[in-house]
Amino acid sequence: MADLSIAFFSFLLLFFSLSLLFFLAFIVRPRPVKVPIKNRHVFISGGSSGIGLALAQQAASEGAKVSILARNTGRLEEAKESIRLSTGRDVAIFSADVRDYKAVKKAVEEAGPIDVLVCNQGVFVPQELETQDIEEIKFMIDVNLTGTFHLIKAALPGMKSRSNRGPGSIAIMSSQAGQVGIYGYTAYSASKFGLRGLAEALQQEVIGENIHVSLIFPPDTETPGFAEENKRRPKLTSILAASSGSMKADEVAKKALNGLKSGNFIVPCNFEGFFLSLATSGLSPQRSFLMAFIEVIAAGILRVVGLCFQWNWYGSIEKFLEERK
Ligand SMILES: NC(=O)c1ccc[n+]([C@@H]2O[C@H](COP(=O)([O-])OP(=O)(O)OC[C@H]3O[C@@H](n4cnc5c(N)ncnc54)[C@H](OP(=O)(O)O)[C@@H]3O)[C@@H](O)[C@H]2O)c1
Repeated sequence: MADLSIAFFSFLLLFFSLSLLFFLAFIVRPRPVKVPIKNRHVFISGGSSGIGLALAQQAASEGAKVSILARNTGRLEEAKESIRLSTGRDVAIFSADVRDYKAVKKAVEEAGPIDVLVCNQGVFVPQELETQDIEEIKFMIDVNLTGTFHLIKAALPGMKSRSNRGPGSIAIMSSQAGQVGIYGYTAYSASKFGLRGLAEALQQEVIGENIHVSLIFPPDTETPGFAEENKRRPKLTSILAASSGSMKADEVAKKALNGLKSGNFIVPCNFEGFFLSLATSGLSPQRSFLMAFIEVIAAGILRVVGLCFQWNWYGSIEKFLEERK
């Protein structure tokens, strides 16, 4: 009798799983896509340093025609030289501040039609909202969020009129602080959460043009920008951010490039990021029915895990405040 019940239960489980898989395979949208980069124009903002430079290096080594944009001409020249030395390929460099729409438009038009746009530039100055200067808050929103609008708006006409067509990509560099708010990151998190709204709506607007949006969520990554940020990080920010490990810029670049080439909307970069992405999948688009299956099955338990994280974080905050008294 017990054997019969186990067999019946296993059959039900199998039936339920297969039905769910078939259902998800039928409904997931947008449809799966591959975005090639070989011999195609990849334009990377913030490509003179850190993750952007690593991305430019990897894209060039995979045979892409790469353009990079940043403000500082000296660092752009250095990046160009280091990419030439490591890949033997020349990249085009453009000096512009993403906050200046006219300058961005001019650079993008000079660069020529873009197949893959990577909006990677970003600034991060952690501090509690109450003490952070209002200009610094605006600076982060302007560079991270408004600057990304400028890049996309400048690049879209050319991307839409590419003669060869073929799938295009707009990849946007967010952060794990764009998936969950962390102490000391009110302005930074707001700028990165904003990118998610931009990306979700944009994907619907450009799908008809065969353009595919990816949103990349790196954890702490060893870059010049991160080294600077670390000097100003409130102690509590470091304690809370430590729950996701840190990565090297090359590793993040590899994940980002693979993610955009697979047309993935959400691109996590490490193990913790994978779970964070599952836990925050919400109403975001999903192309893979297998990933959709994991999201559905894991939803309940991941909410419990998420609550455990909040329990741990608020515990650390209470302890910190107690010690400060
Ligand atoms: N490193 C991390 O721990 C981490 C974690 C999660 C997410 N991220 C995100 O990853 C991206 C890259 O970060 P990173 O650590 O590689 O930074 P990084 O080493 O500081 O490099 C930033 C790049 O952006 C450019 N840039 C900054 N402000 C700009 C502006 N107003 N206009 C045009 N270009 C500008 C910089 O060049 P110029 O200064 O010459 O303009 C540089 O090329 C950012 O979006 C960041 O938010 C980083």
